[in-house]
Amino acid sequence: MNRVRQEIIGPCRLFCGDSLEILPELEDESVDLVVADPPYSSGGAFRGDRAQSTKTKYQSSQVIDAKPLFSGDNRDGRSYLAWCSLWLIQLERILKPGAMCCLFSDWRQLPTMTDAIQVGGFVWRGILPWDKVDARPMPNRFRSQCEYLIWSTKGPRDFSTAGATYHPGMLRHPAPTGNARQHSTQKPVEILAEIIKVTREGETVVDNFMGSGSTGVACIETDRQFIGIEKDPTYFRIACDRIAKAWKAKNSELPLDEPPKRKRQPLVMPPLPGMEIDR
Ligand SMILES: C[S@@+](CC[C@H](N)C(=O)[O-])C[C@H]1O[C@@H](n2cnc3c(N)ncnc32)[C@H](O)[C@@H]1O
Repeated sequence: MNRVRQEIIGPCRLFCGDSLEILPELEDESVDLVVADPPYSSGGAFRGDRAQSTKTKYQSSQVIDAKPLFSGDNRDGRSYLAWCSLWLIQLERILKPGAMCCLFSDWRQLPTMTDAIQVGGFVWRGILPWDKVDARPMPNRFRSQCEYLIWSTKGPRDFSTAGATYHPGMLRHPAPTGNARQHSTQKPVEILAEIIKVTREGETVVDNFMGSGSTGVACIETDRQFIGIEKDPTYFRIACDRIAKAWKAKNSELPLDEPPKRKRQPLVMPPLPGMEIDR
């Protein structure tokens, strides 16, 4: 086992490392929701297109402040299916029965990802289009204005009306821009907060491709616990900084007579046996 860097910030436990190494250390049936945005390995019809850098694929050539590159984005179709299946099998193991697994994908990878989800053992339930509203106009063709959230469950879920909550079938919010954008494929916190509402306050959400930490920020804002994994040390640092800032802002919102909620809930995860932790 490689040395793994870990940070704990409020209700968030953050790991810098490979999902395939860290997920196996998490406890069976300990998690209430997965929301993850894996590298799409997309961006073109041919292998050569996919092999381009993430800057070329996901940022306009006019962008001045180029975002750091990230890895895992250039697999071909068959290897992408095999790789996704490996971590999906782990996600299925750590989720509680009936819990949801929600994954972002683009139109090209929808068929492969929905296959991988089922290889992982999940029941595929549907897709929610994410309307990015102000997508770039493209000459003589339709805009690439949507990405997709694929949702699935670990076995049957309670769909009865008793105590039910109700959720949208479509997501709509622009992607972050300007100073708010820290990652070339960053998802809006507003969209993640909407998705997370399928859990209750205090429950645990996992994002095993957390990038700049958007899901962690949404968890803090909606009072959920969070486990995040990011392989790239530059993005791990960005995620830690964003999540620490969100946690500080959350605590400063509290009325003066209410103590900060630092120890409000024990983390669900026990210490990870056999894993050397660097802090
Ligand atoms: C599409 S981005 C996620 C962006 C994120 N949703 C955000 O809002 O910032 C995918 C991330 O997964 C990371 N990644 C790629 N392979 C990984 C692996 N095997 N384990 C953990 N993270 C990985 C990349 O470094 C990248 O930051």
